[in-house]
Amino acid sequence: MILKLCIAFSFLISASYGQISVVDFCVADYSVANGPAGYSCKNASKVITDDFIFTGLGVKGNTSNFFKVAVNGAFDLTLPGLNGLGLSLFRLDIDVGGVVPIHTHRVSEVIIVMEGTIIAGFIGSDNTAYFKTLNKGDVMVFPQSLLHFQVNVGNIPALAFVSLNSPNPGFQFISASLFANNLPSSIVEKITLIDKDQVKKLKSIFGGTN
Ligand SMILES: *[C@@H]1O[C@H](CO)[C@@H](O)[C@H](O)[C@H]1NC(C)=O
Ligand SMILES: *[C@@H]1O[C@H](CO)[C@@H](O)[C@H](O)[C@H]1NC(C)=O
Repeated sequence: MILKLCIAFSFLISASYGQISVVDFCVADYSVANGPAGYSCKNASKVITDDFIFTGLGVKGNTSNFFKVAVNGAFDLTLPGLNGLGLSLFRLDIDVGGVVPIHTHRVSEVIIVMEGTIIAGFIGSDNTAYFKTLNKGDVMVFPQSLLHFQVNVGNIPALAFVSLNSPNPGFQFISASLFANNLPSSIVEKITLIDKDQVKKLKSIFGGTN
């Protein structure tokens, strides 16, 4: 019993030590290549307050695109002070009739709606859909790596902010992954069960080749 407790404790201690940093921060040094753990740290003597500041989320993004949506925000490439801290923050504008198509990230996301009405949801790995109409002040979480979406179903432009627990969460839009790629159409047809004409149409919309 005591041995088991000791093993459990040593595991807990080693697990938590992994989270403890020996530095206050690790501001991204863009002069050195990025790696799996993020950017190298900028020399602390050269760190300035502005390394921790991002401005511009007070204005609407450019929604003149196919999906009528704009995503702008603070992540490791735009806010060097986020490097290594496990979080990022984005402004999401969705015009009337606009949609953030189904997509996934490497990490979890939390959304707060500031204006408008959206339907947001995600699909569990057992294909259960969890979705709801969200209004101003509503918060929803999308668990890590699960497919999710947001649709403006109101009659005014929707504004929301999302935060993700990575300084570089990655965005993989499923339609773009399937139809903006350079896979031969014959393979896309096989792996999606979508017929040839539709594959050609979707490839032309998303800019896929072959
Ligand atoms: C950081 O910069 C200071 C001042 O320029 C310098 O003395 C120091 O050697 C640098 N540290 C590293 C690790 O490069
Ligand atoms: C918004 O994006 C569209 C499409 O990329 C572009 O043509 C337009 O100039 C942009 N508008 C502004 C204000 O940047």
